[in-house]
Amino acid sequence: MFDPLDPGFAMSLPPILQRLQHRLRPEVRNQLDEWRETISVLSQVRDPRVAAALGPSGVRGLLLHRGKQGVPTRTPARHRVHFDWQYPHDNPEMAELYRRAKAGQWNGDDLPWHIDVDLDNPDVLLLPEDFVDRDMAEQCGIRLTDAEWRAFGHSIAAWMLSQFLHGEQGALFAAAQVTEAVQFFDGKLYGATQVMDEARHVEVFLRYLETKLERLYQVNDNLFVIIDALMADRRWDMKFLGMQIMVEGLALGAFGTMYKVTEEPLLRALLAGVIQDEARHVHYGVVALRDHVRTELTESERREREDWAFEVSVLMRNRFMAYEVYEEWFEHRISRARWREFITHSPGMEQFRSVMFSRLVPNLREIGLLTDRIRPAYESVGLMRYFGGASADSLTGDRILAELDAEREAELLQAGT
Ligand SMILES: [Fe+2]
Ligand SMILES: [Fe+2]
Repeated sequence: MFDPLDPGFAMSLPPILQRLQHRLRPEVRNQLDEWRETISVLSQVRDPRVAAALGPSGVRGLLLHRGKQGVPTRTPARHRVHFDWQYPHDNPEMAELYRRAKAGQWNGDDLPWHIDVDLDNPDVLLLPEDFVDRDMAEQCGIRLTDAEWRAFGHSIAAWMLSQFLHGEQGALFAAAQVTEAVQFFDGKLYGATQVMDEARHVEVFLRYLETKLERLYQVNDNLFVIIDALMADRRWDMKFLGMQIMVEGLALGAFGTMYKVTEEPLLRALLAGVIQDEARHVHYGVVALRDHVRTELTESERREREDWAFEVSVLMRNRFMAYEVYEEWFEHRISRARWREFITHSPGMEQFRSVMFSRLVPNLREIGLLTDRIRPAYESVGLMRYFGGASADSLTGDRILAELDAEREAELLQAGT
């Protein structure tokens, strides 16, 4: 199975092609590496129904780079809108989430935007210095001065925040679609609050990038594939699974990690607000899908979703290769494969991946998409260790933030001793 985290991946060409590869110009070698990676991702999909659902978006995103052409993307949406003229009170847990969401609305203008984000101040870093391992960087052929390392750290942070923003645009549209398509009336009312939440998230991430970091990276191809596929899928539960469980679950983990490690106070305040909202969103996803998967789907339909979730997990994990930053900094200095090795094993990236999947995997378990049948696949890419964690329906935003604050305190104390 394709696994870019496997150091042997880069060596998996037949020996004759490996020898030939070294004679190619670096840009040709990089292009080959990109195609090989894309084909590996697309060809490892085992279920033909999953291939049919993800394939066209995979071609649009990974081969044609449709998210990167600087023009708007038009994706056909074919879901069915569900009206109910009886207005049933049909789901108390969703009604409770709706009440909490109304009370929890906040205004992005109220964040402390007056804070001056000074990117040259080494005491207020967006990401900690040990986010990357400099010794390993040297081994990979990367040599930078202290000032360059700081600037590189800002690039990584801006790249991550740009991907958060692009994910939020997807979440905004997906929340709107799901609000139309879902059959629970309490879910529709709740969904309207989520649409507002996601608009606010787009607003605050964009404002931070535009006014504080003054840069915006293009959408990552893997993220584009997932969003494009979700928009086009006509089944409401696939949109739920993709957006509310997978994209939102991983985002919650990523926001939490950045909240914990950044020293920049405006960004911390922004992320605290977003985390409060996202905790509700993932909770909604678990509530909506838990019974649906167990009682409404046939075994064949359930298996398809189980396979789909696994493929998307791998795509999501690959999304964190940050090739957009590589192209900016190192494209003419080291190979794409060397970069992959470096970024994959950076301590900061390892922490991001670990926290993200610790949020996602328990939710897949909770909704019934991590049965014995699929576990070996998760095992083979190192994700089964998160199986026993708490699922989103047992977590509130307050609890998540309190845990992150406690971890941050403990790490600061440890660093000071
Ligand atoms: Fe969001
Ligand atoms: Fe969300």
